[in-house]
Amino acid sequence: MFIVSRVGKKAVIGIGVWVLAVTPAVAQGIDARIIIDADQPGPRINPDVYGQFVEHLGRGVYEGIWVGEDSAIPNVRGIRSDVVAALRRIRVPVVRWPGGCFAERYHWRDGLGPRDRRPLGVNAARGNEPETNAFGSHEFMDFLEQIGAKAFLSVNVASGSPGEAQAWLRYLTGPATSGPGQERARNGHPQPYEIAFVGIGNETWGCGGNMTAEYYSDVYRRYVSVLGRYGTLVAADANSDDYAWTETLLKRALYRHAVATPLAYISRRPQISMMGLHFYTFAGNDWGKKSRATGFSETDWALSLERTSKMDELITRHAAILDRYDPEGRIGLSINEWGSWWAADENRPSNLYQVATLRDAVIAGLTLNIFQNHAERVRMANIAQMINVLQAMILTRGEKMIVTPTYHVFDLYQPHQGATRVPAHVSAPDYSHGDVELPSLSASASRHDLGTLTLSLVNLDPNRDVRVRADVHGFAAHEAAGRVVTAATMDAHPDFDAQDPLVPVALGGVVVQDGAVTFTAPAKSVLVIELGE
Ligand code: AHR
Repeated sequence: MFIVSRVGKKAVIGIGVWVLAVTPAVAQGIDARIIIDADQPGPRINPDVYGQFVEHLGRGVYEGIWVGEDSAIPNVRGIRSDVVAALRRIRVPVVRWPGGCFAERYHWRDGLGPRDRRPLGVNAARGNEPETNAFGSHEFMDFLEQIGAKAFLSVNVASGSPGEAQAWLRYLTGPATSGPGQERARNGHPQPYEIAFVGIGNETWGCGGNMTAEYYSDVYRRYVSVLGRYGTLVAADANSDDYAWTETLLKRALYRHAVATPLAYISRRPQISMMGLHFYTFAGNDWGKKSRATGFSETDWALSLERTSKMDELITRHAAILDRYDPEGRIGLSINEWGSWWAADENRPSNLYQVATLRDAVIAGLTLNIFQNHAERVRMANIAQMINVLQAMILTRGEKMIVTPTYHVFDLYQPHQGATRVPAHVSAPDYSHGDVELPSLSASASRHDLGTLTLSLVNLDPNRDVRVRADVHGFAAHEAAGRVVTAATMDAHPDFDAQDPLVPVALGGVVVQDGAVTFTAPAKSVLVIELGE
């Protein structure tokens, strides 16, 4: 139901059933119009859409989360307290672990028992960095408990087996009276853990086994036959626009064989609960040519946002395949790796570490708007990655910690968590640069049970403020308050030794009159306005 129409040259894009007539907005000193149909409720925005991903990679786990009990950095049972406090503030719903490609080389027993006796290894998935196994299943579950999030385990398909995965799940979730439960109790946790999601492999077309979709469908069936009762099962991820992957998996692995389990066959209960999808943002479409994280050009800015916008098309087309195989809407899409991927930092403080700028905030806002506007199918997403890796929420340098512009966007978007998505129809001028032409504004709206309405808006144009009028139907808006993330330069970024230039500030000049809200969306900004009746 989300529609974007443009005042500029190009045609309408988006999904929807009707298109706004372009009103003479400019004549009223208004550049863009938004119509919010608050009386047309859509699906609930699943809080898991604001999920995160943690991989043993660079300083994502070691230093980022785990500092050890003897560290001078304040910690609870080895998990750093500043990071926990920051993550609690943004209500992280779910965390995917231990990878990524690392998961496809991970053997869970290496991370059990006294830490000084755990095997030392290397991270063979990326960079051959030392792996102490100090952070294993118990430490991960402790971390989740401290931040208040659910577990999404990615099991090893490339170098593991269904038996190893099943033993892991039995160990974690079995009753204290069972053999695996008794072993868990001896390791300090008699109570069974809860595992919400189980991912059957990671990028099984690549680092996760180099499989064809046909072959993986059979591998998936095999894993499901022993893992079916553990959590929500997520089938490994299509690579960006590999629609054939999704189609093949649904065709070959969605249901059990009739002869094997006649009852399940008759009830036609799907054995895929979620389909995975991975998609990264570069400046353009070439993995090999990455933009610098800072000091980039406006062309890089425009290409990055054009690439990010493709997420809308990807979801639309993967969801259309799901619609054919699952018209009842039982299977969700899980975008379990997404985010920006810039060129390695010249100083390389660690693997896949990148400085986080205002561009990342705009990418985050745009992507979250797309997820929300596809809430019918998008039921989980996990940004890559939580700390010190790629589009991180948090960066650390020894005992110092800063939150990133992406963190601020997740913070601003909190009112959308669990709210009911309502249609937001946008008519806005284009942002053009070189060959790139995009609508300058991206919007998404939701209505909360508590009686508030939230509008999130991204102005992609790095040069031009946009004067906006939002008409709200079916909601008697009387008050409004907004916060905005923006800065003077495209690559403004927080630093360990300076004040954060991107802390959200109150959005001035928001006027509510006769059910309409007018305000200015500053150039290159992400803003959230909350309306009350
Ligand atoms: O997030 C970094 C890597 O990107 C992951 O390990 C892999 O799944 C993806 O290719």
